[in-house]
Amino acid sequence: MTGNKTVFIKTYGCQMNVYDSERMSDTLAPLGYTPTDDADNADLIILNTCHIREKAAEKVYSELGRIRVAKGERAAQGKETLVAVAGCVAQAEGEEIIRRAPAVDMVFGPQTYHRLPELIERVRKGERPSEPEATAPFKAPRSPKVVETDFPLEDKFDHLPAAKAEVTRARGITAFLTVQEGCDKFCSFCVVPYTRGSEVSRPVEKIFSEAEALVAAGVREITLLGQNVNAYHGLGADGEMWTLSELLRRLSDIPDLWRIRYTTSHPRDMDDALIAAHATNPKLMPYLHLPVQSGSDRILAAMNRRHTASEYVELIGKIRAARPDLAVSGDFIVGFPGETEADFEATMELVRQVNYAACYSFKYSPRPGTPAATEADQVPEAVKTERLHRLQALLDAQLKDFSHSLIGRTLPVLFEKEGRLPGQIVGRSPYLQPVNVMAPSHLIGQMADVVIEGTGAFSLFGSLVGEPAATERRLA
Ligand code: 5AD
Ligand code: SF4
Repeated sequence: MTGNKTVFIKTYGCQMNVYDSERMSDTLAPLGYTPTDDADNADLIILNTCHIREKAAEKVYSELGRIRVAKGERAAQGKETLVAVAGCVAQAEGEEIIRRAPAVDMVFGPQTYHRLPELIERVRKGERPSEPEATAPFKAPRSPKVVETDFPLEDKFDHLPAAKAEVTRARGITAFLTVQEGCDKFCSFCVVPYTRGSEVSRPVEKIFSEAEALVAAGVREITLLGQNVNAYHGLGADGEMWTLSELLRRLSDIPDLWRIRYTTSHPRDMDDALIAAHATNPKLMPYLHLPVQSGSDRILAAMNRRHTASEYVELIGKIRAARPDLAVSGDFIVGFPGETEADFEATMELVRQVNYAACYSFKYSPRPGTPAATEADQVPEAVKTERLHRLQALLDAQLKDFSHSLIGRTLPVLFEKEGRLPGQIVGRSPYLQPVNVMAPSHLIGQMADVVIEGTGAFSLFGSLVGEPAATERRLA
């Protein structure tokens, strides 16, 4: 099964899906599939889906409607299009997807995508869902389907091709690396423990080799990914279980790896050694995504977060004491079942106390199969919308204040690509903001000090240290 075929992968949701999509692409390369941006003419379309909120799943179904039309047009020209739904919607809904979206040929969850070549083969051979070969009344010659949503015993990472230098080089200066997957926390609103399964950490040396391969391919900044990354406990070469702070120390040994980040963390797993790493490990960026979801102790308890608002605020204080220039981001849910105006005001108060650099905030959306979904006192949609607006106004103001506070400061910027204006290049600040600078393109892949001179909606502008400021250049 070789030849020049194209694959279009659309990724929804979190960074872990971005990583998974890249690895799917690696898995398909030996089968002759090259990535394309042209969905209408692709031989294989994969939607790597997210189930975290209702809207994310609905987007997938509307996309599948469009794909059905394109697939029909290609079929009229005698061309075959295989359509796959992967990721968390696939895991949660399984065969239901094929019932709702007949254009779909394959459905597979996040733990089985290393079997993609085998799944494609099975579709080609004409397998149908839940019909054992012997008892199937007939075998349709067209539209065979494959559904694969078990949690397999084998580790998918062992069955994925090693990161290839030429593939990773095309991906640039920064990369994601999954170190831990799944979650055992069971927050009462969240589908992740059901779609991604229980917590599994990859062994230290496997992560180390993958990081070395990425760095050899030109990557200078790696973000370690896990649904609950700071609960990492992976097998070390010494046979002991290593924690995230130990893994961070090991990865810091790679000389040309300049920057390390990790996401997403749970407050309860922020141990003292990890906090200390923020003080002592210069490669660890001073930016931490630490979701709290709510500022009300009553709601936090109903969410099964197993900490209070003041414990969270104290924790932030401790981490900031270790790393004074730390910026914090978070996630919030408004309108969780039973949330009163007083509960919501407690969330606003927590936001005022912490002072965030950036945040994601969402209206609670009931996810089938989670405990909170069936609670009686659901909050009316209009109330959720109004609270979300108030919260986002406060968070936006904090984001602007944070960006403005950087004006006049010198920040190390890792340049990643050409900018939109001629002569401009773009990099990232330690706080993940894009920084636009007029500078020669040979600096892409390099780190340089930049004086921040202005802010955009989500970005910063500045000049290389020692260069005239942008305003002076305009006057000259
Ligand atoms: N409704 C709304 N937001 C949710 N999140 C997770 N589950 C839900 C839900 N059912 C949010 C949380 C989490 C982020 C990734 O998505 O804030 O931290
Ligand atoms: Fe979901 Fe809670 Fe686990 Fe985060 S910690 S993935 S919100 S269950």
